[in-house]
Amino acid sequence: MRTPSMLFAPLLPWFARARRSLPWRGEPRDPYRVWVSEVMLQQTRVEVVEPYYLRFLQRFPTLDALAAAQEDEVLALWSGLGYYARARNLHRAARTALDRGGLPRSAADLRELPGFGAYTAAAVASLAFGEQVPVVDGNVARVLARVLRLQGDPVQVRERAWRIAPDLLPARRAGEFNEALMELGALICAPRNPVCDACPLSDGCAARRSGNPEAFPAPKRRTVRPVLVWAAPALFRGDAVLLRKRADDDLFAGLWDLPSAPVVGGDVTGALRRALSRCGITRTPRLKAAGEVRQILTHRDVRVLLFRGQRRAPLRDGETVRWARSADVESLGVSSLARKCLRLAWSG
Ligand code: ADE
Repeated sequence: MRTPSMLFAPLLPWFARARRSLPWRGEPRDPYRVWVSEVMLQQTRVEVVEPYYLRFLQRFPTLDALAAAQEDEVLALWSGLGYYARARNLHRAARTALDRGGLPRSAADLRELPGFGAYTAAAVASLAFGEQVPVVDGNVARVLARVLRLQGDPVQVRERAWRIAPDLLPARRAGEFNEALMELGALICAPRNPVCDACPLSDGCAARRSGNPEAFPAPKRRTVRPVLVWAAPALFRGDAVLLRKRADDDLFAGLWDLPSAPVVGGDVTGALRRALSRCGITRTPRLKAAGEVRQILTHRDVRVLLFRGQRRAPLRDGETVRWARSADVESLGVSSLARKCLRLAWSG
């Protein structure tokens, strides 16, 4: 009978041959770079992350540089990558870490910083500081579920994977092993069409033996996303449009956007009025419907009803409202949804 850790013995030799050369994998590992990459890689594929990572590191090459930055600039470099709370937490954590003399070296201490959950703390501690701790993300959970036939719904599989993972770590090589598991999940043991013929673990894999590896782990139940309907006035003064920084407790917090407010009970006019009053505009100008923009997020389906109008009276820029020309948008933190709305507003 082979123990679980024996089943994973071929993993490290495979990783030595097959690992991708990625910009955050330079040796010796720079903890700051490992951290930035792990935060960007949460819920986001390597191909998408790479150009963002390179631009980010060029602008903020060190923890000190990031800590000294303005949040707006951090969000601008994150624009389009999604899950913007990651960027705000990264920035806050850089400031906290710097105050404490640098990034803590253990997963337990890292977890005290903003944005560090179990995954990020363990990834940075093992990859950058050599701590013997396991990591479990979606890829790792799937690999373990298949090789070890972990049963249950996705939440139970995740818990079971965290429980078994410490027993699998080879002595002194946790970081490499963790990264190898993630790489196997990304390159070979994919959710669909896993390439079992090329897999170093296929001999001992329970899911492969079952004849239907894709059946592990059990599929997520389809979630129904709540639909959010917003009304958004695009107010122009010449070729500049009025933007508002989204509130801290709102979706896309801290990002610049067209003013908007939820449409309640079908009352679009009321929503437009509320959107403008948040900018200090109490008289709604004449507005014309300009189309609808839709964006599906992980947990929400957002529909924006866009309107266009003109502002004749001046309105001064402040902390949370400003006028922007299309060239200015590049240097602001805006979501992909806001970018789509702005494109439509300027094309009208
Ligand atoms: N996904 C998240 N972190 C990763 C890493 N270090 N290597 C490969 N895929 C990853």
